[in-house]
Amino acid sequence: MRYSEELIEEIRERNDIVDVISSYVSLKKKGVTYFGLCPFHNERSPSFSVSREKQMYYCFGCGQGGDVYGFLMEYNRLSFGEALRELADRAGIQLPEQEMSREEKQQEDARLVLREMNKAAAVYFHWNLLHSKRGEKARAYLTERGISGETIKHFGLGYADLYRDDLYLYLKDKGFTDQQMKDSSLVTIDSVRGSYDKFFNRVMFPIMDAGQRVIGFGGRVMGQGEPKYLNSRETLLFDKSHNLYGLNYARRSRDKAMILCEGYMDVISLHQAGFTNAVAPLGTAFTPGQALLIKRYTREVILAFDSDEAGIKAALRALPILRDNGLQGRVLSLKPYKDPDELIKAEGEKGFAQRLEKAESGRMFELNVLHDRYDQQDPGSRTEFIREMAKKLAEIDEGVERAAYVQAAANHFMVSEKDLTDLVNRYGLGYQYQKANENYKKSPETREQAGTKKADLATQPQKLLLTWLIEQPGIYPVIRRIISPDDFLVPLHHAVALMIFDRLEKGEEIFPAGILGKFTDAEEKREVAALFNARLDYEPDEEKNDRALTDVVRKVKLASIEEEMTRTNDILRWQELIVQKNKIQKLELHLKD
Ligand code: UTP
Ligand code: MN
Repeated sequence: MRYSEELIEEIRERNDIVDVISSYVSLKKKGVTYFGLCPFHNERSPSFSVSREKQMYYCFGCGQGGDVYGFLMEYNRLSFGEALRELADRAGIQLPEQEMSREEKQQEDARLVLREMNKAAAVYFHWNLLHSKRGEKARAYLTERGISGETIKHFGLGYADLYRDDLYLYLKDKGFTDQQMKDSSLVTIDSVRGSYDKFFNRVMFPIMDAGQRVIGFGGRVMGQGEPKYLNSRETLLFDKSHNLYGLNYARRSRDKAMILCEGYMDVISLHQAGFTNAVAPLGTAFTPGQALLIKRYTREVILAFDSDEAGIKAALRALPILRDNGLQGRVLSLKPYKDPDELIKAEGEKGFAQRLEKAESGRMFELNVLHDRYDQQDPGSRTEFIREMAKKLAEIDEGVERAAYVQAAANHFMVSEKDLTDLVNRYGLGYQYQKANENYKKSPETREQAGTKKADLATQPQKLLLTWLIEQPGIYPVIRRIISPDDFLVPLHHAVALMIFDRLEKGEEIFPAGILGKFTDAEEKREVAALFNARLDYEPDEEKNDRALTDVVRKVKLASIEEEMTRTNDILRWQELIVQKNKIQKLELHLKD
């Protein structure tokens, strides 16, 4: 969907960011800025700021930030188009229909229909559970499992009746077509058996996205039966690898970490016991997409998988996924109980809280599992264990972390620290060689990507310089002689630089929301917002300030020159660049000349 810039701008102007955010987060005014508890990460003291002047929000704790569109997209998990429509509605602005292509419109409509249908089905199941005669059996089942009436409402649990087409008839009556129902995965239609409900005689768990909208269902048989849980298949709305059960509540919990468990019932009984930070995958293994989802809210995950072999395997698979996505994983021991649900029943909230405290680091968990797989009494087997352990430790990239784990493992498994260190170093060299070799063999494209790593190193000064320009446009006349927008190597920074330079050249003021509005991708919005809100440590001392600015400008320019040097085949240009480089190294900037 493409809406004109004027329209996007108008809608923004008619929706003051402080007003909009106030309806979601309680804000207090401090000076010209409003503060509240950040809805995007867990915190106890407010670092979430909203500025009326800038028409932006920014969290000093987690770095989330953006304009009013970005906020709605993030908070309610909307696409840009959806946020735009909501804000247009709020301001009473009529959106021109034709701005959507036909295909986009169809997709959009299909999604809306699916949303409506899922909602209708959830309401129907829930009503059945609470009020229908046959629902009594399901109520008894849940009660017997210790689920309170309040929890049933909180999670919108339901009951799919034992008639095979009652949902079908209900939805038909609501005006949904056969094709629409087929697309929703709620009803199966085939030529032999006709139309029948996918779920019947099951307790229903509506699955919600982070924005609290029903996107699919899980249904459990009461008692024994196969399959134990039946899940909706993926639809236009339901993407199993990018959603988590319970996230709609867990994202608002004020705990530092999220608890990742295996199933619906675990999440429900944990929430019921007050652990509202519990989530679970949706009937599939944990995915990188889910790790990234969690990362929006916290950096720490505590695994509470079942204590059986399958649960251990699942934890061993989840831990590297967490690590690869920048999350820290710990593992909670449930023994001798099978799963969190059982543990809570046996030991109560206190017991679970204690075990949370004692959850061990993911690395130590992996080593302990390894340990248990070898006969420690047999010298050969124990040696093999120590070798395998050293290999795992050698994979830790960072030296300080590696050393800390070597020490901890040596103590824990009673191996001499020196021997273990030697072994780790030996494997470490092999490992690094192997990695370098793999990189070498990779295609030219990925080698090029390795090249952009170099550009990454210059990212920090680039960001700093942009922030500086935004905060102190007075430096522009001094730096424009040296720096141009093309010196900003990261595409996003380049785009921002083009706008800022253009405005400053014309002597115009920089309006953050105006620049932010040019970016519709949530991730980009966040990054750009960070530029507008990063805090610069001004040096009150003129000389020091000059030196700091000189340093940043030098770094940005040098990175840009070096980047061009790696690209050019022209020997003359290359020589020019060398001369430039020497000049820049001697550069001295003075703001007050
Ligand atoms: P479990 O078998 O551990 O179920 O599967 P549970 O969560 O402990 O449920 P209760 O306590 O027996 O009722 C864990 C998760 O694996 C998926 C479901 O998401 C379930 O919550 N699963 C399990 C299925 O999708 N289908 C199945 O047949 C079984
Ligand atoms: Mn289980």
